[in-house]
Amino acid sequence: MRSFTALATVSLLALASALPEPMIKRDDATCMTQAEAQKVADNFQQLIAAYTLEGTNDYLTVDFHDYSDSVSSLIDAGCTGPQTLGEATFASRAAFQAGQGSQASISFEQLNVWYSCTAVFLRWRTPLTPEFVTGIIVGETIKNTNSTSDEPWLINTIYSEFNSGAWLVDVGSFVPTNCSTSSASRRSLRL
Ligand SMILES: *[C@@H]1O[C@H](CO)[C@@H](O)[C@H](O)[C@H]1NC(C)=O
Ligand SMILES: *[C@@H]1O[C@H](CO)[C@@H](O)[C@H](O)[C@H]1NC(C)=O
Repeated sequence: MRSFTALATVSLLALASALPEPMIKRDDATCMTQAEAQKVADNFQQLIAAYTLEGTNDYLTVDFHDYSDSVSSLIDAGCTGPQTLGEATFASRAAFQAGQGSQASISFEQLNVWYSCTAVFLRWRTPLTPEFVTGIIVGETIKNTNSTSDEPWLINTIYSEFNSGAWLVDVGSFVPTNCSTSSASRRSLRL
């Protein structure tokens, strides 16, 4: 019995040393903490709700990319251009500064924040009328090597989608014409 236990222990140790590094490690130098993930979420929210050029330089990498067909559809107002669906809406930090910097501020509340080693997942809602808009943002980050910065993680890529149908209604780009019966709504879902 004792030798079996010893053998099992040796086998487990051998197995452990042979296993690859875990995919997700927490709270060490290479993975963000919960507080750091919340800061990343707050940083991106600040750029949307209270944009400043300084904030973009502090929170985003120079090679920042923002993918959002929802935003592209809003820019296109439902038409087929100028934005191309599937391509980055903003392909650099400078492009984000040029585009987002000229937008009206959009306040939203955070509904959920989750995180992995280097990514943050934010679910949000904004009280537009007549239809509020809910969305989900995935933000990939990289470790900041700038030792004089307060930001341990810089946002490198954003994948953001939301209810742009409701938003197009809110801004008047899409005017619903067939709201009379709920059965009509159900029917229209059978695409
Ligand atoms: C490093 O961070 C500081 C403080 O935010 C900033 O002033 C400086 O420009 C940064 N350096 C580089 C190379 O980005
Ligand atoms: C409007 O809804 C009615 C059902 O209430 C449906 O028969 C009709 O095809 C719809 N029209 C459009 C343009 O979707």
